[in-house]
Amino acid sequence: MMNLDTLPVAPIATNSDQVEAVTAALAAHSLALVPRFPAETDRFLDFLSNFGEPLHYYGDGTGTHPSSGAIWRIKYDPAQAARREIHAVDGPLMPHSSQSLRDPRPPYFCMFMIDHGWLDMPTGKSGASLLVRWSDVLERMHTVDPGGYAEIVAALEASVPHPGGIARPVVYRLTSPRGPYDLGVRLKSDLLEHLRSQLPEHPSTRAVELLSTTALEVAQRIQLRSGDLLLLDNDRWGHGRESVVGRRRRAGREPELNPRELWSVTLG
Ligand SMILES: [Fe+2]
Repeated sequence: MMNLDTLPVAPIATNSDQVEAVTAALAAHSLALVPRFPAETDRFLDFLSNFGEPLHYYGDGTGTHPSSGAIWRIKYDPAQAARREIHAVDGPLMPHSSQSLRDPRPPYFCMFMIDHGWLDMPTGKSGASLLVRWSDVLERMHTVDPGGYAEIVAALEASVPHPGGIARPVVYRLTSPRGPYDLGVRLKSDLLEHLRSQLPEHPSTRAVELLSTTALEVAQRIQLRSGDLLLLDNDRWGHGRESVVGRRRRAGREPELNPRELWSVTLG
């Protein structure tokens, strides 16, 4: 398990000018971490509005925070998990980026750990977050297959049908690339399943499979603690999660549900 020290970012002190410090961290590292942020919806959304407009969640339904349509709440819930509602399951979440298909692309994505839940679980079951720098993924893909890389990127740059009928490319050029692998990535969590059903033999489907599996290989695994607020450049970083244990029963006690709760917001 890596920890937050392995990320190219220093936690931003609570006594600093947080907006200025976050702006500088995003410019330098495409990532910013603010620890010990208070779990208050108004304060949270006020803070985020310095970096963009908190977008209402397109998915709607039971994952939306009751006090704000912009907050998507990820928390284990047995009944919702049985209906395969993605915010409520206890299984792993493959690396992906913000679900939004808006154009222009929303610039930032926020993850805010409200309650880190049960950490005393076996490896891979403590709900560690996965953070993926897409340039690391593309570089690894090039190293593994130098001859096929250009073709794979071309397949990712082609528009593909997304759930709901909109066509978008998965990989796109950035206006100020910082290196040969600094491309933007838009990877909705349900895209691969959709492509497998719609275009099973298509080169773009195979390319998205490769992008996803490589992302899992190079992901940095970090355990966010209650109060940790992470802002990510939505072009350059993806996110995911290892499994959580949803419920347990300890000797002589009533069954318990894992209180782990994370809020996510996309900024447009
Ligand atoms: Fe997500």
